[in-house]
Amino acid sequence: MDVNTPILAPSLLAANHANLAKGLHYAEKNGCQWIHLDIMDGHFVPNLSFGPQTVKNLRKESSLFFDTHLMMDNPHHYIDAFSDAGSDLISIHIEPEYPILNTLEKIKNMGLKNGIVLNPKTPVEKVEPYLEIIDLVLVMTVQPGFGGQRFQKAMTNKMQLLNRWRREKNLSFRLEVDGGIAEDNLSLCLKEGVDTLVAGTAFYEHPKPTYFRKLIEEKV
Ligand code: DX5
Ligand code: ZN
Repeated sequence: MDVNTPILAPSLLAANHANLAKGLHYAEKNGCQWIHLDIMDGHFVPNLSFGPQTVKNLRKESSLFFDTHLMMDNPHHYIDAFSDAGSDLISIHIEPEYPILNTLEKIKNMGLKNGIVLNPKTPVEKVEPYLEIIDLVLVMTVQPGFGGQRFQKAMTNKMQLLNRWRREKNLSFRLEVDGGIAEDNLSLCLKEGVDTLVAGTAFYEHPKPTYFRKLIEEKV
């Protein structure tokens, strides 16, 4: 049973960073309800993106659902900042050493949705203990840090298992994928029960972005 309506979350990382507000409006204009915000700390991933001040300024520009993906070694130090900045959902990685359970609970107690993220090399079993208390699981389909990489097809096994656990445990968390999502792998993900698809390059460089969104949300 697919519990959630499929949705496209464009990744603003692939927009022009000299005018991020334009990238936000572009997603809105093309009928999107979510925007994916990639926060990189230069430690957990070998790249930097933007921080809470940028998110705060973007919040004034739009009412899109802010899906904030923290690629950080110490995400627990930044929950207040990204909550104040206007995030609607904050997802944190399972790989670094920090109080994961407390951080997930903190996000929830602040009235936001919470999510847990796993890298391609991380076994899916690692997230199982958290499934009852999260709103979203994000399966990375590339090694995080950069946009424009190739989708790793082997990650479909994780999607399948998470979808099965969701059904068996009667849960309704969103199942999100991120990295290299494009027209040629959409249906594969949707078939495995994925309902939230992040796409950076494929959305911002698509000649018909509305059509791209509809492929996911309306299965045209
Ligand atoms: C990867 C980021 C992704 C990335 C996706 O580090 O978490 O959200 O922006 O970009 P594409 O769709 O270009 O792979
Ligand atoms: Zn991301």
